[in-house]
Amino acid sequence: EAAEKGGYDHYMIKEIHEQPTAIRQILECHGSGELTDLDPGTLEGVEEVQFVACGTSYHAALYGSYVFAERGIPASTHLASEYATHERPVGEGMLVVAVTQSGETADTLAAIETAQRAGARTLAVTNVVGSSASRVCDDALYIRAGPEIGVAATKTFSSQVVALSLFADRLAGEDSPGGPVAFDSLPWGIQRILDTSRSRDVAERYRGRDAFFFIGRGVGYPVALEGALKFKEISYEHAEGFAAGELKHGPLALVTPASVVFAVFTGRDDEKLLGNVREAQTRGATVVAITDGTNEEVLRQADDVLFVPESEPAVAGLLANVQLQLISYHAAALLGRPIDKPRNLAKSVTVE
Ligand code: G6P
Repeated sequence: EAAEKGGYDHYMIKEIHEQPTAIRQILECHGSGELTDLDPGTLEGVEEVQFVACGTSYHAALYGSYVFAERGIPASTHLASEYATHERPVGEGMLVVAVTQSGETADTLAAIETAQRAGARTLAVTNVVGSSASRVCDDALYIRAGPEIGVAATKTFSSQVVALSLFADRLAGEDSPGGPVAFDSLPWGIQRILDTSRSRDVAERYRGRDAFFFIGRGVGYPVALEGALKFKEISYEHAEGFAAGELKHGPLALVTPASVVFAVFTGRDDEKLLGNVREAQTRGATVVAITDGTNEEVLRQADDVLFVPESEPAVAGLLANVQLQLISYHAAALLGRPIDKPRNLAKSVTVE
């Protein structure tokens, strides 16, 4: 097993380090036209997309729905376990996209069945060739991240987001709004974070705090949710993710001087997010900004900073996510948690 971990202490940290390669793989595959070489029947006349997914895949889908919206394709994201509770009207132009790393999650398979019963076309976005989701859906798009062993999904989140964005390019016509997200520099950007991150020091500094909150806006919101999920999964500490604007509608009651708030800055709506940071600081919380450092006000206001290379917002969210993966990993490692196999959790949940 030590050999399989390639010199790393855990699969999770190995897989975090595999992200530049995983992203290069999917970009190459896209370059050769293979990635979205899908059955024309699945794609013809698609005007709207519904994503169904669970856990980390749900966060990737939510991220994807922001990218789809920017390209003028309406997209909604549904928790698979809730989608399956009732059939919803499905028009001709609707495509239901199941996002599932393993392709075996029972809740997601049930949602696919619900969608198909309502007459929807279905597409699986998955990492596993020949998985159940890939077989039951009309077509499959493979994210090509390579096997992921750690229960906490890391590299597959990044690959899912890139896959969904490239799929949005495929669906959006020539005259669609926005432009394709430029992912070319993403592998380099991730590598730079892996080489320079101060996440271990930050994790050490705030060890023992009562609660860890994660806030963001736009794509920073799914990244905040994912940051909190990762943190609670492997450190067992109290962690919650919120849309930053929602802080004042309830979660602010939880914020005390013993709280740490991670704020995901993407270069969009930074001023509003700064307002939310002040709301938390006024209640005594320590705020760690994830930022590219170009906004001096963010640097002045934050109590602590984790840097990411400068990029457009749709890429910045993915880079910030890597810093948050590292924070969770180091927080859990410092507490001696069994990182690759957290208690009560499974890599793939095959019961509803
Ligand atoms: C489990 C795993 C999560 C994963 C979720 C969805 O709960 O522990 O890491 O995100 O299932 O898995 P899927 O294979 O459908 O992406």
